[in-house]
Amino acid sequence: MKKVRWGVLGAAKIAREKVIPAMRGSDLYEVTAIGSRSLEKAKTAASQLDIPKSYGSYEEVINDPDVDAIYNPLPNDLHVSYTLKCIQAGKHVLCEKPFALKASDLKSVISARDEYGVKVGEAFMVASNPQWIRVKEIIGSGDLGKIKAVQGFFSYFNRQEDNIRNKPENGGGGVWDIGCYPVFTSRFALGEEPQKLTALLDFDPDFGTDQLGSVILQYPSAQMTFSISTQLMPYQRMFFFGEKKALEVRIPFNAPIDQPNEIHIHHGDITGHQVEVIQMPISDQYTKQADDFSRAILEDKEVPVSLESAYQNTRILEAIFQAAKENRWVALT
Ligand SMILES: NC(=O)c1ccc[n+]([C@@H]2O[C@H](COP(=O)([O-])OP(=O)(O)OC[C@H]3O[C@@H](n4cnc5c(N)ncnc54)[C@H](OP(=O)(O)O)[C@@H]3O)[C@@H](O)[C@H]2O)c1
Repeated sequence: MKKVRWGVLGAAKIAREKVIPAMRGSDLYEVTAIGSRSLEKAKTAASQLDIPKSYGSYEEVINDPDVDAIYNPLPNDLHVSYTLKCIQAGKHVLCEKPFALKASDLKSVISARDEYGVKVGEAFMVASNPQWIRVKEIIGSGDLGKIKAVQGFFSYFNRQEDNIRNKPENGGGGVWDIGCYPVFTSRFALGEEPQKLTALLDFDPDFGTDQLGSVILQYPSAQMTFSISTQLMPYQRMFFFGEKKALEVRIPFNAPIDQPNEIHIHHGDITGHQVEVIQMPISDQYTKQADDFSRAILEDKEVPVSLESAYQNTRILEAIFQAAKENRWVALT
């Protein structure tokens, strides 16, 4: 295979605005087809994004012999079923987060992946972002001392009735949409799996989706707390507190592509003057994700975020709902 030829399911906002624009001009891959429930919509997206083929269904993309790999940015409730169709057609699949709404669903995806011998992974672009790779290295180096506490926050304001984030039937709500990020990045940076958790969730009375949540996770070496909201001013941060220093990821999730990402190392001066600023080279985390995933296909390597990782993340997110509903700690081991 010379270049990986990608097909896209749905003219999703994330695909049109971030992922496909980030995949232009590569020697490793190209986007060759996009399908939508509306042919008109597919044609418009294809002409705006220079994609040669447009289809009025997802099935035509999946069955196109000139497509090697599929990017699946459909609503959360359609991730597993369409990924399975792609795998059964012999295609590699990069599926948007959260990959599944039930961890048990990932078992059938893992079996299908193994049966068809294709690459399948979850689109946590943060795993390919150099700032998170650096965070993991710094924590692993021991320079901060033993990490004992982690804190996260992620919020935005969205009460649009027609948005998939506000529809329970599409797997909407804050936990699935953004709670997945503090969970994934803490697992990624610490290199550990949490043992138990408890949570508070508040649900929007009109939509029935969770709009505010706070979670405590017990990792083997650290305690983590994070809050998320779909109805607060936009904000995001992650902190890792060590015995000697603390590390702050300034824009941990929606990292900009036009300015350097910054990691701040706090040396313990509470006035905030002793802060070491690490500026990362400007990069696009969606390009890095496409590079890493395409290389995994071309060189038969591990995908950046495996289905086994997706299984763990989903188990944790499911446990958050259980803990909040039953008002108790839920064991994860
Ligand atoms: N990694 C990231 O940074 C990131 C950021 C944002 C979102 N996401 C993920 O990407 C996925 C899409 O998010 P988005 O914000 O781009 O959503 P969106 O704009 O609403 O796109 C979803 C697409 O799914 C298709 N679709 C099929 N059945 C649908 C239904 N019943 N209702 C609505 N749409 C339906 C539509 O495509 P057609 O009409 O063209 O068929 C629609 O454009 C979600 O899983 C989300 O979690 C990831």
